Amino acid sequence: MSPTYAIKSFGCQMNAYDAERIGELLEADGYGVADMAAADVVVLNTCHIREKAAEKVYSDIGRLRTRDGGAPRIVVAGCVAQAEGAEIVRRAPSVDVVVGPQAYHRLPALLKQGRAIDTDMPVVPKFDMLPARRVRVGASAFLTVQEGCDKFCTFCVVPYTRGGEVSRPADAVFAEARALAEAGARELTLLGQNVNAYDGGDGTGLADLIRRVAQVPGIARIRYMTSHPRDMTDALIDAHAQVPQLMPYLHLPVQAGSDPLLRRMNRAHTRGSYLAQIADIKRRVPGIAISGDFIVGFPGETHDDFEQTLSLVREVGYAQAYSFKYSPRPGTPAATMDGQVPEAIKDARLAELQRVIGEGALAFNRASVGRTCEVLFERNGRRPGQLIGKSPWLQSVFVSDATLAIGDIATVELVDAQPNSLEGRLVTLAQAA
Ligand code: 5AD
Ligand code: SF4
Repeated sequence: MSPTYAIKSFGCQMNAYDAERIGELLEADGYGVADMAAADVVVLNTCHIREKAAEKVYSDIGRLRTRDGGAPRIVVAGCVAQAEGAEIVRRAPSVDVVVGPQAYHRLPALLKQGRAIDTDMPVVPKFDMLPARRVRVGASAFLTVQEGCDKFCTFCVVPYTRGGEVSRPADAVFAEARALAEAGARELTLLGQNVNAYDGGDGTGLADLIRRVAQVPGIARIRYMTSHPRDMTDALIDAHAQVPQLMPYLHLPVQAGSDPLLRRMNRAHTRGSYLAQIADIKRRVPGIAISGDFIVGFPGETHDDFEQTLSLVREVGYAQAYSFKYSPRPGTPAATMDGQVPEAIKDARLAELQRVIGEGALAFNRASVGRTCEVLFERNGRRPGQLIGKSPWLQSVFVSDATLAIGDIATVELVDAQPNSLEGRLVTLAQAA
């Protein structure tokens, strides 16, 4: 009988993409898929961005070690693997393999070695070594085009766990986009830690890449994330106005609203430059939805700094935003800065920020009611006959209609708004799956 594997992925979409590729790699090596309770090999694809995420892996290892019917072989992959390396095996001796995000193409070989640790950032990119994409994928698929970060925000582990900024060649991205389209994808989200810093050589930027991917037959929608304000180009904004497949949505994190804080975060932009950029984008791409990321309780954050974050959120009018309590990460400059903020203050500020973000999201959704737009249906809803899809502005839209199927793109009238979703009514089926 062939051996089996299961993967649990934590954290960002790039990790979700890596988990898919690890699955394909193991299947190409003869493994079959199983659930966590039965698999011979369990891969934990970990996240190191905040302490809470990083600690989750150890509770999972504990559970797997004492699993009914015997422990599986345990692989720790992802960013905790990169950051902690051999320390993981010292702390959790039941782990067999530790493999970093730039070395996982070697996982089948590492599994054959018994115990192994590989946190290299090899010269030959892993993408060249991975097997072809799966025969079937979902209606919306991720495609990593760029990895790593050279910006060194003082709170962030990414430059250490994922390495410096590296872009995949445009031809390789195009080939993978075609393979994903043939496997059933109708929407592609081009991923990168700094995706708008994409540099395919010979002056090929993200805007050029998007224009190329838009030519792939079957790809009706293109998205990209995450962008850095410093790398936002005119060409990319123009692409929003000119490429019909490029969805009107921009995730452009600012992190905070006060200049002294942004300086200590080493963000390389100011409140004013960010607001001016957003105003320019909104003028050139009317109706575009903006989203962002925020950190509260960064070292030295005063009440006034925090008020400035709230006022920036109100001024931008985010369609949605993600917010986090600052978590000191080993080896990053902010972890040893003076003025660490007490947990209770972080909690209160996070609650207040999330309230203001929620008000903005509800206002954005309410303003959509009465509109007609195309929705790509991605999964079943909880009620029988109900499907959940995404509007062009990345809102979740629920529609109950027996004629719809997953993978369909339909014209839908938005009839009711909640803070995190909208109710829609089918107008016509635009493109069947
Ligand atoms: N603490 C809290 N949030 C963080 N992020 C990155 N590093 C930290 C940290 N140390 C947030 C940022 C980033 C998002 C992916 O995670 O907002 O944009
Ligand atoms: Fe981290 Fe800043 Fe790089 Fe984003 S831009 S990955 S927050 S260092």
